[in-house]
Amino acid sequence: MLKLPHEVVSRLRPRLDGRRVCVTGGAGFIGGHLVDSLLSLGASITVIDDLSTSTAEHIAGLIDLEPERVRFVHASILDEAALGEAVVGCELLFHLAAVSSVPRSLSDPERSYAVNAMGTMHVADAARRANVRRIVYSASSSAYGQGQTLPKVETHIPAPVSPYAASKLAGEHVMLAWAKSYGLSTVSLRYFNVFGPRQPTDSAYAAVIAAFSRQLISGQRPVIFGDGQQTRDFTFVPNAVLANLLAATTDRTLEGQVVNVGTGRRITLNELARILAERSGLPHLVPVHQPERPGDVRHSQADLELGRTLLGYEPIVSLEEGLARTFDWYREQTSSPRVAHG
Ligand SMILES: NC(=O)c1ccc[n+]([C@@H]2O[C@H](COP(=O)([O-])OP(=O)(O)OC[C@H]3O[C@@H](n4cnc5c(N)ncnc54)[C@H](O)[C@@H]3O)[C@@H](O)[C@H]2O)c1
Repeated sequence: MLKLPHEVVSRLRPRLDGRRVCVTGGAGFIGGHLVDSLLSLGASITVIDDLSTSTAEHIAGLIDLEPERVRFVHASILDEAALGEAVVGCELLFHLAAVSSVPRSLSDPERSYAVNAMGTMHVADAARRANVRRIVYSASSSAYGQGQTLPKVETHIPAPVSPYAASKLAGEHVMLAWAKSYGLSTVSLRYFNVFGPRQPTDSAYAAVIAAFSRQLISGQRPVIFGDGQQTRDFTFVPNAVLANLLAATTDRTLEGQVVNVGTGRRITLNELARILAERSGLPHLVPVHQPERPGDVRHSQADLELGRTLLGYEPIVSLEEGLARTFDWYREQTSSPRVAHG
């Protein structure tokens, strides 16, 4: 498990200890890390997840450890009755359930929009009916699309270039509208390329750090779509978890604000491949370039000013440390695949 710094734990524990919270998509990559941290801070958690892009393995391990404090509802957020049951009695709701990939949304835009946009509306409405105090929504920096100057600031006009981005942006609008219409406290966290242990490596939809790690560990050259000069603000998962915890516990008025969650830095994919190849001990494995993919954004880098002022968010782990820890975790999994919980 990735540990939060001691200072963060002692500040947040009094605000989460004994609270019941709901995490949609809690069996997924970021959701699983968020659930770990919520548990370590004393919360009781109901996870609702349909396991469409994840497994129950991590959550089952947590239920074994903490049967009183972890509950799992195996259902879709599109199932109104199951969602209502998952949300009841929860003070806070972290909404992460989504079809969370650009390529997946290109091959099945309808599913992507149903889950990410309509599903988010269902979640907001279930939360309203259950008198949930606040929703923290996992939004996406893909909403910015192409073209704006860097770094990307929340005041830029969104210009989604993929069905995924459009559906995630629709979710932000639901958050704003439910705050204004019903007085529900909401906030949208626009993540910039989150990575870390347990991010799946094993599909055509794998995120880039997971994919490069898998390729290097099996002695293959990393595959880059395009010239590799595209840039990303890669965000190690504890930083995204921290942003969620700060957003959930702040006394500030949150009514649909959109807040970037990144590191404020960016590197090219070529540079990323070089760092990981060095870490693998096989620096001669230089990238193979394939044609660019539709829906991919050219450059991405977060402006962190609003996150700082509104939430007190500041990244807690650097890119270099995050990459080293993540790569080592994948390598360890390959050499001892039965060690399941990172
Ligand atoms: N990973 C990133 O870089 C990144 C960047 C921007 C935004 N996000 C957002 O963060 C959230 C979590 O992303 P992740 O990387 O952990 O993805 P993930 O795919 O690992 O997690 C999503 C979870 O949602 C579940 N899910 C999908 N459809 C569902 C449905 N209809 N009902 C219930 N559960 C459903 C999946 O089974 C999975 O466990 C998503 O909302 C995603 O859009 C992620």
